[in-house]
Amino acid sequence: MNRRDFIEAASLTALASSPVARAAAPAAKPLRLGVIGAGSRGQEDMRQFLRVPGVSISAICDIYPSRTEQVRQLVGHDVPATTSYAELLSRHDVDAVLIASPVGCHAEHIIAAARSGRPIFGEKALGFTVEQNHNIVDEVERAGVLFQIGHEYRYASWVKESVRRIQHGDIGKPTHIYAYWNRNNDWRRAVPSPDPGRKLEHLINWRLYRDTSGGLGTELGSHHIDIANWIFGEQPESVLGTSSVCVYHDGRTVGDNVQLVFNYSQGRRLMFSSLTDNAKNGNELWVYGTEGSAQITIEDATFYYEKKLSNQPTADKPTSKTIVERGVVTGASYSTGGEMPYRGVGERVNTGSSSDPTLESIRSFVEAVRGEHAVVADLHVGFRSGIACSVAHDAVFAEQRMSIPQYRGNGGAEAKTT
Ligand SMILES: NC(=O)c1ccc[n+]([C@@H]2O[C@H](COP(=O)([O-])OP(=O)(O)OC[C@H]3O[C@@H](n4cnc5c(N)ncnc54)[C@H](O)[C@@H]3O)[C@@H](O)[C@H]2O)c1
Repeated sequence: MNRRDFIEAASLTALASSPVARAAAPAAKPLRLGVIGAGSRGQEDMRQFLRVPGVSISAICDIYPSRTEQVRQLVGHDVPATTSYAELLSRHDVDAVLIASPVGCHAEHIIAAARSGRPIFGEKALGFTVEQNHNIVDEVERAGVLFQIGHEYRYASWVKESVRRIQHGDIGKPTHIYAYWNRNNDWRRAVPSPDPGRKLEHLINWRLYRDTSGGLGTELGSHHIDIANWIFGEQPESVLGTSSVCVYHDGRTVGDNVQLVFNYSQGRRLMFSSLTDNAKNGNELWVYGTEGSAQITIEDATFYYEKKLSNQPTADKPTSKTIVERGVVTGASYSTGGEMPYRGVGERVNTGSSSDPTLESIRSFVEAVRGEHAVVADLHVGFRSGIACSVAHDAVFAEQRMSIPQYRGNGGAEAKTT
């Protein structure tokens, strides 16, 4: 449990146990969840779902048997388990479906859940291939079901406030975004032995193989792509990419580092870089505008403002006469003053709230299912990052600039944050 979780849990416990809350709180409308893919993220999502009043877990579908016991421990009682998603979807006690299977399974699972008529919380990335991203949108729209994508940073108070300020011109025109997600570990999960045919290796370490994973660009970069789409108000038009296996020569077929450049209209760009052998920079995103910069991390955000440039000579800006007198003939090499404008503390974004973004996104999903408001991170938000991930995955192997298609049907445009 991190600091934010601890504070959140302590305040929820205090609130729920106060006599006033017990007496006044109306019973929340029940929402019974069926889960497809009950691994690491599925269990974290379930943990957060269970913090929302009225939510219970009816059943899980997973093809790895140990998940049944893990979910029993998490939920506190036995939960019916099946390896067949069709069986899970045929149950009468499932009101909504959480899908947290590997990305290569999303299309099959989302489309089946949509056809069953239930609201869906689908983990990112939307689909694995370009075709799957289109098919998912087609089918979910045809079924007319509510869909939310697992882009939880759309619900983080400091990210929302930063995007609002950027869209209102706080740092001038945002032109470039440099995003990093760096770690110092091999991204590998332990596999029980024996493992005949390496089946468990592929089930558990699906992220490391090109035919089941979009690699670091999809698994980590999808969040940054989504934030860039939000800030720029559109999806990228094309992507250039490269990656290599630099340190972990263990048979993986995706890179242990990646560099991607996404091109947006008007020459604007997102550069995403991920290393797994050096954690410096961690997970952060810098938005560069013509009048300042915003640094958005997974915990906070800070704004820095550019000093206004002027053509008038000032005390620290030499005239051509002083340059000549001092024997320096080019303004460019005369003074390094002003070349490090970001040294300094910056201005921290203060939203007064530090609630867990995953909890906030799940709470918002439950409210949307209950008809209280529309979905924020909706199907087209998922499409615009998912399609960029799918093309980027191809681009790193082709090492060529590749076009990113728009949704082939009628897509909703990115809404401006108010
Ligand atoms: N929103 C976020 O911040 C976030 C964070 C982590 C992971 N994710 C996403 O969540 C998804 C799952 O990631 P994870 O880390 O939990 O992976 P995981 O391997 O831990 O869990 C996936 C689970 O799906 C099961 N599974 C595989 N194939 C299946 C099938 N055909 N039918 C039913 N179950 C099947 C596996 O046995 C496993 O238990 C991925 O799409 C990932 O990108 C999102």
